[in-house]
Amino acid sequence: MKLFELEIKSSKKNYKVKFIDDFIRSLKLLYKKNDFIIIDKFVYDNYVVSHKEYLNSFKFIKIEASEAQKSYLRLAPIIQELIEGGFKKDNRLIAIGGGITQDVTAFIASILYRGVDWYFFPTTLLAQGDSCIGSKTSINFGEYKNQLGNFYAPREIYSDTNFLRTLNEKELTSGLGEMAHYFLVSSEEDYKRYTSEYDNARIDFGVLRDLIIRSLEIKKSYIEIDEFDLNERQVFNYGHSFGHAIESLTQYRIPHGIAVSIGMDIANFMSVNYGYLSAEKRMEIREVLKKIWTGYSLADLSIEEMKNALRKDKKNKGDLLGLILTKGPGKTFKEFKELDSKFSEWLFQYFSEEFYR
Ligand SMILES: NC(=O)c1ccc[n+]([C@@H]2O[C@H](COP(=O)([O-])OP(=O)(O)OC[C@H]3O[C@@H](n4cnc5c(N)ncnc54)[C@H](O)[C@@H]3O)[C@@H](O)[C@H]2O)c1
Ligand SMILES: [Zn+2]
Repeated sequence: MKLFELEIKSSKKNYKVKFIDDFIRSLKLLYKKNDFIIIDKFVYDNYVVSHKEYLNSFKFIKIEASEAQKSYLRLAPIIQELIEGGFKKDNRLIAIGGGITQDVTAFIASILYRGVDWYFFPTTLLAQGDSCIGSKTSINFGEYKNQLGNFYAPREIYSDTNFLRTLNEKELTSGLGEMAHYFLVSSEEDYKRYTSEYDNARIDFGVLRDLIIRSLEIKKSYIEIDEFDLNERQVFNYGHSFGHAIESLTQYRIPHGIAVSIGMDIANFMSVNYGYLSAEKRMEIREVLKKIWTGYSLADLSIEEMKNALRKDKKNKGDLLGLILTKGPGKTFKEFKELDSKFSEWLFQYFSEEFYR
């Protein structure tokens, strides 16, 4: 059976996402002597250890998928192991894991020996439905998240939904939340599709796989015209300024994709206040977003801290917030807005009443 492939045009070299259903087979075909596999320890223990006898000559570096591991200083031992382990410029790095393993591997691949090839087997829904394409690499600097990075695409991506079977409820929901912003940015039709397939996608991996493919197709259409995130691609910051602030204020208790779904509702609420979106449409979109954040509480969130976090957003210009607002699905746009008393009042209203509607 010919499996589905998606080709992504990229400045240096085009690359493909190959949708596979037997990752060990693909890994064996891909691996060459002295390649190094950087793998999430959980994935190693649950998916690789049982095949160990076939893979005994493969070189693995197991990492813990934590934000601390994504920090600049924690990359040093990995780089040391690669250099001391005989890794050379013509060898390749293979990442197996979620977004953290991806960022660690891609960043190291981009700087080691001025750049080596890397391959990616995404194992979380967020990585399969979003981060695996787009070439971004992001590393934390101390407590500051995603401050260092560059654009460095993999050679190939091998996507296997079988990995998703062990995802917990939270990770599955977070992935679906992250994917939602592609469907909402894309069009009314894609938004309707996402809404009607959401419940089924949680239980039927065939439905989920097709949503993953659509999510990547939407992202592809933007990154191919604006790979370096200077213009068109910036609409994918939709829900993210507010989402990042919520993540950081809750000490990452609320995972990324779930924070982004709340962030999209806040962006929609602001869009209603600025006169761009009808209150009815906002409430309609909210129905599906609410399914994503149900069970998470935002009690104790301080509006002052929220404002400080928003002011630090790297997409701002001077004192102006760089917001992605919307006139409805398929009609998102960027606008710079002042964080004035009116805006503060709306934030207060959101966190005291609107979130609980
Ligand atoms: N570079 C990019 O374009 C980009 C885009 C979005 C997010 N990110 C980054 O990705 C990170 C978040 O990534 P993520 O949510 O994919 O996951 P992750 O790598 O943070 O992993 C989340 C958890 O899931 C576990 N896990 C991984 N695969 C699993 C599986 N198959 N079954 C069960 N558990 C599994 C991990 O061990 C970890 O505990 C953040 O650091 C974010 O900044 C990067
Ligand atoms: Zn995101």
